[in-house]
Amino acid sequence: MQKLTDQYGREVNYLRLSVTDKCNLSCFYCRSDPGKCGIEPVEGALKVKDYLKIGRIAAELGIQRIRLTGGEPLLHPDILKIVNGLANLEGVKDLSLTTNGILLEEMAPRLAKAGLNRVNISLDSLDESNFRQITNGGKLASTLKGIDCSLDEGLKPVKINVVLLKGINEHEIERFVRLTLCRELDVRFIEYMPVGGQHSNWAKYFLSLDKVLEIARTIAPLSVVEGNHGGGPARYCRLEGAVGKIGLISPLSRHFCDRCNRLRVTADGKIKPCLFSDQELDLRPYLDQPAQLKEVFLEALKQKPDPKNSAGNSLERMKQFKGKRPMINIGG
Ligand code: 5AD
Repeated sequence: MQKLTDQYGREVNYLRLSVTDKCNLSCFYCRSDPGKCGIEPVEGALKVKDYLKIGRIAAELGIQRIRLTGGEPLLHPDILKIVNGLANLEGVKDLSLTTNGILLEEMAPRLAKAGLNRVNISLDSLDESNFRQITNGGKLASTLKGIDCSLDEGLKPVKINVVLLKGINEHEIERFVRLTLCRELDVRFIEYMPVGGQHSNWAKYFLSLDKVLEIARTIAPLSVVEGNHGGGPARYCRLEGAVGKIGLISPLSRHFCDRCNRLRVTADGKIKPCLFSDQELDLRPYLDQPAQLKEVFLEALKQKPDPKNSAGNSLERMKQFKGKRPMINIGG
């Protein structure tokens, strides 16, 4: 098995592949223009066969895990074909998908059948009216049903992603943490990142994750869950006796650039070496030229920034970063 290692010794084995910029929610912190989540067709959007070509080349180079993202990936009319094609690629050991869960009740059985291994579900509030407000009209009950169906279909581990937002959902930390006590869910809190058009929002809503641990400790003794957890950015701990885990993803207060294991491809066919950089390379001109496509991948690998440049000053660096693409056009 070939390994893809960058010049700083990081093994890159994980690809995030965005299949659409569209979303059926419109979360105020993620979108570009208020209320407008990729309603217009993406210019230069990739076709199903293009995703499979990209997946194949990536797997040949040493990518072992692929995550489908968006926008909302379940809005892609051919998502099952994409899942099935990628699941059958040699070398792909783990195929996952990040979703807001709205369509999961209907889709989970078909996704499982098509070969999807697991899902991460974004859920920023457990309160119906707060959920509606954050998402600009979304129905909490749909996402909750989606979570249940994913568990029923064995799309496990089911991970819940909560972007922590000061004054918006910090009062719900306890409720989220308590979810892990009796449900087989990994509830992961994510620091709000200054990505996309809403930079004034970032300073207003950013909250470090220290608060999560503080609150968790008031509920029950907390222990660290050791392991590298698939090489991802989350640190995990568990409340005594809990079924699920609590995850902490702190790109700002405890950056993890030195362990970065990923590349990203956007729905319009750009490969991004780093989330915190506007640098991107276009894959589209090479979709019918596998050798060149490989070269662009290797060039993106080469362009992954030196993790030393972010060591110690990550918070400062990210405060200054004013990325052009909002998260909805990257895929998280
Ligand atoms: N910072 C952190 N997470 C974000 N997401 C969207 N925008 C941001 C941001 N600025 C999250 C979504 C979803 C995942 C793909 O990224 O809520 O869980």
